[in-house]
Amino acid sequence: MSRTVYLNGSFVPFEEARIPIMDRGFLFADGIYEVSAVLDGRLVDNEAHLARLDRSLGEIGIRNPHTIAEWIGLETELAERNGLDEGVVYMQVTRGVAERDFAFPPADTPPSVVMFTQKKAIVSSPLAETGARVITVEDLRWKRRDIKSVALLAQVLAKQAAAAAGVAEAWMVEDGAVTEGSSSTAFIVTKDRRIVTRPLSTALLPGITRAAVLRLASEADLAIEERLFSVEEAHDAAEAFYTSASAFVMPVVSLDGRTLGDGHPGPLTRRLRALYIEMARAG
Ligand code: PDD
Repeated sequence: MSRTVYLNGSFVPFEEARIPIMDRGFLFADGIYEVSAVLDGRLVDNEAHLARLDRSLGEIGIRNPHTIAEWIGLETELAERNGLDEGVVYMQVTRGVAERDFAFPPADTPPSVVMFTQKKAIVSSPLAETGARVITVEDLRWKRRDIKSVALLAQVLAKQAAAAAGVAEAWMVEDGAVTEGSSSTAFIVTKDRRIVTRPLSTALLPGITRAAVLRLASEADLAIEERLFSVEEAHDAAEAFYTSASAFVMPVVSLDGRTLGDGHPGPLTRRLRALYIEMARAG
């Protein structure tokens, strides 16, 4: 099946989708993106992703070009056209095409909208069986990380550092505390079985999977602490994991080369992953 993408109002073959060089997303990273998972052909926790898309756009003054219902229609049609059973739908909105000038273009400049799908084994991910290895890197980002901006250079460098180290993810660190993963939310489980993750603020992205996992953990009467945790505490943790739309709950088995627990995905992590998959399947 040939790949179909969405560009500014039309479903087009991937090879024919073109963006003008004056697009502000290209020149300034002046745009917002979202990623929703698809499992068994259905979007997972999608309305929460669309609400975050709307909020991110509002925070930088880009008009949301679509209603929630329109977005859902576009995502569903794109997934269908690509025969997507398991993977992700990517959505991006930029401030549009205008002569290069830092300040906003005229108010009637239409935002550019791009969407595409990627197939991915999320539930049957081999990495989820063995657990991921993670390194820590300095958090080099700007101060509004709650906005899901396409300006991802610091995350690109963090992920490349992980790739160069032969591991799956990099956790970013500021003032000795873990902020989040390069494309995920970071969690540890203490030796007395408390789930710890950083509280929401402008220092990190409000993960949609994070919110669902905290909800599931609370429903299962598990102890949760939303607080900062240091790299040292993470090195000493009984378990660790990270969450994202594209990984769900991913066990972490080593951090900076130090083995966590017995070096296998921890029991609490496996339970949360199972609960999340069950929720995603229930729709
Ligand atoms: N990344 N933190 C950062 C910096 C992220 O980029 C992401 C998601 C998350 C997890 O958020 P959520 O649970 O809402 O997916 C946390 C997406 C998947 C990406 O960039 O591909």
